Amino acid sequence: MQQEPKIVVIGSLNMDLVVKAPRAPKRGETILGEEIHFIPGGKGANQAIGLARLGAETTMIGAVGSDAFGAELQEALQRDGVNTSSIKVLAAQPTGVASILLAEGDNSIVVVPGANAQCLPEDLKRFEAKIAEADLVLLQLEIPLETVEYAAELARRYGKIVLLNPAPAQTLSRDLLSNVDYLTPNRSELALIAGVAEDTPLDQGIERVLELGVSTCITTLGAEGAAYRERGGRLLRVPGHKVPVVDTTGAGDAFNAGLAYALARSQDIREAVAFAGRVSALAVTKFGAQGGMPRLNEVAEYFREER
Ligand code: RIB
Repeated sequence: MQQEPKIVVIGSLNMDLVVKAPRAPKRGETILGEEIHFIPGGKGANQAIGLARLGAETTMIGAVGSDAFGAELQEALQRDGVNTSSIKVLAAQPTGVASILLAEGDNSIVVVPGANAQCLPEDLKRFEAKIAEADLVLLQLEIPLETVEYAAELARRYGKIVLLNPAPAQTLSRDLLSNVDYLTPNRSELALIAGVAEDTPLDQGIERVLELGVSTCITTLGAEGAAYRERGGRLLRVPGHKVPVVDTTGAGDAFNAGLAYALARSQDIREAVAFAGRVSALAVTKFGAQGGMPRLNEVAEYFREER
Protein backbone atom coordinates (compact mmCIF):
# COMPACT_ATOMS: atom_id res chain seq x y z
CA MET A 1 0.00 0.00 0.00
CA GLN A 2 1.23 3.51 -0.83
CA GLN A 3 2.38 5.50 2.20
CA GLU A 4 0.31 8.54 3.04
CA PRO A 5 2.03 11.81 2.05
CA LYS A 6 3.49 14.24 4.57
CA ILE A 7 2.17 17.74 4.05
CA VAL A 8 2.97 20.97 5.89
CA VAL A 9 0.38 23.75 5.76
CA ILE A 10 1.69 27.19 6.65
CA GLY A 11 -1.21 29.58 7.09
CA SER A 12 -4.08 31.12 8.99
CA LEU A 13 -6.46 29.96 11.69
CA ASN A 14 -9.67 31.98 12.20
CA MET A 15 -12.82 31.66 14.22
CA ASP A 16 -15.57 32.05 11.61
CA LEU A 17 -18.49 34.14 12.81
CA VAL A 18 -21.12 33.11 10.28
CA VAL A 19 -24.35 35.09 9.94
CA LYS A 20 -27.15 33.83 7.69
CA ALA A 21 -29.41 36.55 6.34
CA PRO A 22 -32.11 36.69 3.65
CA ARG A 23 -30.00 39.23 1.73
CA ALA A 24 -26.94 41.45 2.15
CA PRO A 25 -27.72 44.82 3.79
CA LYS A 26 -27.34 47.94 1.66
CA ARG A 27 -24.80 50.57 2.71
CA GLY A 28 -25.88 52.11 6.06
CA GLU A 29 -28.83 49.70 6.41
CA THR A 30 -29.64 47.35 9.31
CA ILE A 31 -31.51 44.13 8.60
CA LEU A 32 -32.49 41.13 10.74
CA GLY A 33 -30.44 37.96 10.30
CA GLU A 34 -31.66 34.38 10.68
CA GLU A 35 -28.82 32.47 12.36
CA ILE A 36 -25.36 32.97 13.84
CA HIS A 37 -22.64 30.32 14.25
CA PHE A 38 -19.10 30.39 15.65
CA ILE A 39 -17.17 27.69 13.79
CA PRO A 40 -13.47 26.95 13.20
CA GLY A 41 -12.08 28.28 9.92
CA GLY A 42 -9.17 30.13 8.33
CA LYS A 43 -7.81 29.11 4.94
CA GLY A 44 -4.75 27.41 6.41
CA ALA A 45 -6.66 25.43 9.03
CA ASN A 46 -9.42 24.50 6.57
CA GLN A 47 -6.88 23.12 4.12
CA ALA A 48 -5.07 21.25 6.90
CA ILE A 49 -8.33 19.61 8.00
CA GLY A 50 -9.20 18.79 4.40
CA LEU A 51 -5.83 17.06 3.98
CA ALA A 52 -6.02 15.14 7.24
CA ARG A 53 -9.52 13.87 6.39
CA LEU A 54 -8.22 12.59 3.05
CA GLY A 55 -5.49 10.73 4.94
CA ALA A 56 -2.37 12.91 4.66
CA GLU A 57 0.03 13.16 7.58
CA THR A 58 -0.56 16.86 8.14
CA THR A 59 1.33 19.46 10.17
CA MET A 60 0.10 23.03 10.56
CA ILE A 61 2.37 26.00 11.16
CA GLY A 62 0.54 29.17 12.25
CA ALA A 63 -0.36 31.40 15.18
CA VAL A 64 -3.35 31.89 17.51
CA GLY A 65 -4.02 33.98 20.60
CA SER A 66 -4.02 32.49 24.10
CA ASP A 67 -7.82 32.88 24.20
CA ALA A 68 -10.81 30.57 23.99
CA PHE A 69 -11.03 30.81 20.17
CA GLY A 70 -7.37 29.83 19.82
CA ALA A 71 -7.85 26.77 22.01
CA GLU A 72 -11.00 25.77 20.11
CA LEU A 73 -9.27 26.07 16.73
CA GLN A 74 -6.38 23.89 17.86
CA GLU A 75 -8.76 21.28 19.29
CA ALA A 76 -10.63 21.14 15.98
CA LEU A 77 -7.37 20.41 14.16
CA GLN A 78 -6.31 17.81 16.73
CA ARG A 79 -9.67 16.01 16.48
CA ASP A 80 -8.91 15.41 12.82
CA GLY A 81 -5.35 14.29 13.53
CA VAL A 82 -3.48 17.43 12.40
CA ASN A 83 -0.17 17.94 14.22
CA THR A 84 -0.49 21.30 16.01
CA SER A 85 2.85 21.34 17.83
CA SER A 86 4.14 24.07 15.46
CA ILE A 87 1.29 26.48 16.16
CA LYS A 88 2.46 29.49 18.15
CA VAL A 89 0.20 30.69 20.98
CA LEU A 90 0.48 34.44 21.65
CA ALA A 91 -0.58 36.19 24.85
CA ALA A 92 -0.55 39.67 23.34
CA GLN A 93 -2.69 39.03 20.23
CA PRO A 94 -6.26 37.81 19.77
CA THR A 95 -6.99 34.83 17.55
CA GLY A 96 -7.95 35.73 13.97
CA VAL A 97 -11.67 36.16 13.28
CA ALA A 98 -13.56 36.02 9.98
CA SER A 99 -16.95 37.69 9.77
CA ILE A 100 -18.89 35.76 7.11
CA LEU A 101 -22.24 36.79 5.70
CA LEU A 102 -24.21 34.03 3.95
CA ALA A 103 -26.98 35.51 1.83
CA GLU A 104 -28.69 34.60 -1.43
CA GLY A 105 -26.54 31.53 -2.00
CA ASP A 106 -23.21 33.33 -1.73
CA ASN A 107 -20.79 34.51 0.94
CA SER A 108 -18.87 37.69 1.71
CA ILE A 109 -16.03 37.67 4.22
CA VAL A 110 -14.07 40.20 6.28
CA VAL A 111 -11.01 38.78 8.04
CA VAL A 112 -9.38 40.43 11.06
CA PRO A 113 -6.00 38.61 11.13
CA GLY A 114 -5.03 39.09 14.83
CA ALA A 115 -2.38 36.49 15.68
CA ASN A 116 -2.12 35.34 12.04
CA ALA A 117 -0.20 38.56 11.36
CA GLN A 118 2.48 37.29 13.78
CA CYS A 119 3.20 34.09 11.85
CA LEU A 120 6.71 35.19 10.88
CA PRO A 121 9.74 33.91 8.93
CA GLU A 122 11.57 33.27 12.23
CA ASP A 123 8.85 30.73 13.14
CA LEU A 124 9.63 28.83 9.97
CA LYS A 125 13.29 28.77 10.95
CA ARG A 126 12.27 27.12 14.23
CA PHE A 127 10.16 24.52 12.42
CA GLU A 128 12.47 24.01 9.46
CA ALA A 129 12.79 20.28 10.23
CA LYS A 130 9.06 19.85 9.52
CA ILE A 131 9.52 21.38 6.09
CA ALA A 132 12.57 19.24 5.44
CA GLU A 133 10.50 16.09 6.15
CA ALA A 134 7.48 17.05 4.04
CA ASP A 135 6.54 15.93 0.53
CA LEU A 136 4.63 19.13 -0.19
CA VAL A 137 4.24 22.58 1.38
CA LEU A 138 0.85 24.27 1.03
CA LEU A 139 0.51 28.05 1.38
CA GLN A 140 -2.17 30.74 1.19
CA LEU A 141 -2.12 34.53 1.68
CA GLU A 142 -3.76 35.09 5.08
CA ILE A 143 -0.40 35.40 6.87
CA PRO A 144 2.28 38.05 6.15
CA LEU A 145 3.56 37.96 2.59
CA GLU A 146 7.18 37.94 3.78
CA THR A 147 6.45 34.65 5.58
CA VAL A 148 4.89 33.15 2.44
CA GLU A 149 7.91 34.28 0.41
CA TYR A 150 10.33 32.79 2.91
CA ALA A 151 8.33 29.56 3.14
CA ALA A 152 8.33 29.08 -0.63
CA GLU A 153 12.07 29.78 -0.80
CA LEU A 154 12.82 27.38 2.04
CA ALA A 155 10.61 24.63 0.64
CA ARG A 156 12.19 25.04 -2.80
CA ARG A 157 15.65 24.82 -1.22
CA TYR A 158 14.67 21.45 0.25
CA GLY A 159 13.29 20.34 -3.13
CA LYS A 160 9.70 20.14 -1.90
CA ILE A 161 6.60 20.62 -4.05
CA VAL A 162 5.30 24.16 -3.41
CA LEU A 163 1.58 24.80 -3.88
CA LEU A 164 0.37 28.38 -3.36
CA ASN A 165 -3.32 29.19 -3.15
CA PRO A 166 -3.15 32.98 -3.72
CA ALA A 167 -6.17 33.89 -1.61
CA PRO A 168 -7.20 36.47 -0.57
CA ALA A 169 -5.96 38.23 -3.72
CA GLN A 170 -2.70 40.16 -3.65
CA THR A 171 -0.10 41.14 -6.20
CA LEU A 172 2.89 38.81 -5.95
CA SER A 173 6.56 39.25 -6.77
CA ARG A 174 8.40 37.41 -9.50
CA ASP A 175 10.74 36.10 -6.78
CA LEU A 176 7.87 34.40 -4.99
CA LEU A 177 6.23 33.08 -8.15
CA SER A 178 9.47 31.56 -9.37
CA ASN A 179 9.50 29.37 -6.23
CA VAL A 180 5.95 28.12 -6.83
CA ASP A 181 5.29 24.82 -8.60
CA TYR A 182 1.49 25.02 -8.56
CA LEU A 183 -0.53 28.24 -8.30
CA THR A 184 -4.32 28.01 -7.85
CA PRO A 185 -5.96 31.41 -8.38
CA ASN A 186 -9.64 31.97 -9.10
CA ARG A 187 -10.46 34.34 -11.99
CA SER A 188 -10.10 37.59 -10.03
CA GLU A 189 -6.92 36.47 -8.24
CA LEU A 190 -5.47 35.46 -11.60
CA ALA A 191 -6.24 38.89 -13.09
CA LEU A 192 -4.55 40.69 -10.19
CA ILE A 193 -1.42 38.51 -10.23
CA ALA A 194 -1.14 38.61 -14.02
CA GLY A 195 -1.80 42.37 -14.09
CA VAL A 196 -4.63 42.05 -16.63
CA ALA A 197 -8.33 43.01 -16.69
CA GLU A 198 -10.75 40.42 -15.30
CA ASP A 199 -12.38 39.90 -18.69
CA THR A 200 -9.04 39.09 -20.38
CA PRO A 201 -9.25 35.63 -22.00
CA LEU A 202 -8.29 33.00 -19.44
CA ASP A 203 -5.40 31.62 -21.44
CA GLN A 204 -3.72 35.04 -21.68
CA GLY A 205 -3.85 35.56 -17.90
CA ILE A 206 -2.46 32.09 -17.29
CA GLU A 207 0.28 32.59 -19.86
CA ARG A 208 1.39 35.77 -18.08
CA VAL A 209 1.54 33.97 -14.72
CA LEU A 210 3.64 31.20 -16.27
CA GLU A 211 5.97 33.85 -17.71
CA LEU A 212 6.34 35.24 -14.17
CA GLY A 213 7.85 31.94 -13.05
CA VAL A 214 5.08 29.56 -11.92
CA SER A 215 5.44 26.01 -13.31
CA THR A 216 1.73 25.12 -13.48
CA CYS A 217 -1.30 27.39 -13.08
CA ILE A 218 -4.67 25.88 -12.17
CA THR A 219 -7.56 28.34 -12.25
CA THR A 220 -10.71 27.45 -10.34
CA LEU A 221 -13.93 28.37 -12.15
CA GLY A 222 -16.61 27.70 -9.52
CA ALA A 223 -19.40 25.44 -10.77
CA GLU A 224 -17.68 25.27 -14.16
CA GLY A 225 -14.74 23.30 -12.77
CA ALA A 226 -11.14 24.28 -13.40
CA ALA A 227 -8.68 25.00 -16.20
CA TYR A 228 -4.96 24.37 -16.01
CA ARG A 229 -1.82 24.81 -18.04
CA GLU A 230 1.73 23.65 -17.49
CA ARG A 231 4.62 25.76 -18.77
CA GLY A 232 5.15 24.75 -22.36
CA GLY A 233 1.75 23.04 -22.49
CA ARG A 234 -1.74 24.11 -23.58
CA LEU A 235 -4.84 25.10 -21.67
CA LEU A 236 -6.92 22.11 -20.57
CA ARG A 237 -10.27 22.06 -18.77
CA VAL A 238 -11.79 19.77 -16.17
CA PRO A 239 -15.60 20.18 -15.91
CA GLY A 240 -17.45 20.89 -12.66
CA HIS A 241 -20.07 18.73 -10.92
CA LYS A 242 -23.76 19.33 -10.31
CA VAL A 243 -24.34 18.97 -6.57
CA PRO A 244 -26.92 20.32 -4.09
CA VAL A 245 -25.15 23.42 -2.72
CA VAL A 246 -25.53 24.19 1.01
CA ASP A 247 -22.53 26.48 1.67
CA THR A 248 -19.74 27.50 -0.71
CA THR A 249 -17.48 28.81 2.10
CA GLY A 250 -14.24 26.84 1.95
CA ALA A 251 -14.85 25.41 -1.55
CA GLY A 252 -11.45 26.75 -2.62
CA ASP A 253 -9.84 25.31 0.51
CA ALA A 254 -11.28 21.88 -0.25
CA PHE A 255 -10.01 22.14 -3.84
CA ASN A 256 -6.50 22.96 -2.64
CA ALA A 257 -6.51 20.19 -0.05
CA GLY A 258 -7.59 17.69 -2.72
CA LEU A 259 -5.01 18.96 -5.19
CA ALA A 260 -2.18 18.90 -2.64
CA TYR A 261 -3.10 15.39 -1.55
CA ALA A 262 -3.21 14.04 -5.09
CA LEU A 263 0.01 15.76 -6.18
CA ALA A 264 1.87 14.58 -3.09
CA ARG A 265 0.74 11.06 -4.02
CA SER A 266 2.38 11.61 -7.41
CA GLN A 267 -0.85 11.60 -9.41
CA ASP A 268 -0.58 13.27 -12.79
CA ILE A 269 -1.86 16.81 -13.10
CA ARG A 270 -5.10 15.92 -14.92
CA GLU A 271 -6.08 13.30 -12.34
CA ALA A 272 -5.05 15.62 -9.49
CA VAL A 273 -7.18 18.51 -10.78
CA ALA A 274 -10.13 16.16 -11.34
CA PHE A 275 -9.78 14.76 -7.82
CA ALA A 276 -9.57 18.29 -6.35
CA GLY A 277 -12.79 19.17 -8.18
CA ARG A 278 -14.57 16.19 -6.65
CA VAL A 279 -13.37 17.07 -3.13
CA SER A 280 -14.51 20.67 -3.58
CA ALA A 281 -17.91 19.69 -5.01
CA LEU A 282 -18.58 17.42 -2.08
CA ALA A 283 -17.46 20.07 0.43
CA VAL A 284 -20.17 22.55 -0.65
CA THR A 285 -22.95 20.05 0.06
CA LYS A 286 -22.47 20.67 3.83
CA PHE A 287 -22.46 23.72 6.11
CA GLY A 288 -19.20 25.33 7.27
CA ALA A 289 -15.75 25.59 5.75
CA GLN A 290 -14.41 22.65 7.76
CA GLY A 291 -17.73 20.86 8.21
CA GLY A 292 -17.89 19.86 4.55
CA MET A 293 -14.35 18.54 4.10
CA PRO A 294 -14.85 14.93 2.98
CA ARG A 295 -12.94 11.76 3.80
CA LEU A 296 -11.28 9.79 0.99
CA ASN A 297 -13.90 7.03 1.03
CA GLU A 298 -16.72 9.61 0.87
CA VAL A 299 -15.22 11.10 -2.30
CA ALA A 300 -14.94 7.67 -3.91
CA GLU A 301 -18.46 6.73 -2.81
CA TYR A 302 -20.17 9.95 -3.94
CA PHE A 303 -18.61 9.92 -7.39
CA ARG A 304 -18.62 6.15 -7.90
CA GLU A 305 -20.91 6.27 -10.92
CA GLU A 306 -19.11 9.14 -12.55
CA ARG A 307 -15.72 7.49 -12.73
O1 RIB B 1 -11.81 30.13 2.61
C1 RIB B 1 -12.74 30.28 3.64
C2 RIB B 1 -12.11 30.92 4.83
O2 RIB B 1 -11.76 32.24 4.52
C3 RIB B 1 -13.01 31.02 6.04
O3 RIB B 1 -12.96 29.89 6.86
C4 RIB B 1 -12.54 32.29 6.71
O4 RIB B 1 -11.88 32.07 7.91
C5 RIB B 1 -11.64 32.98 5.70
O5 RIB B 1 -10.33 32.88 6.07
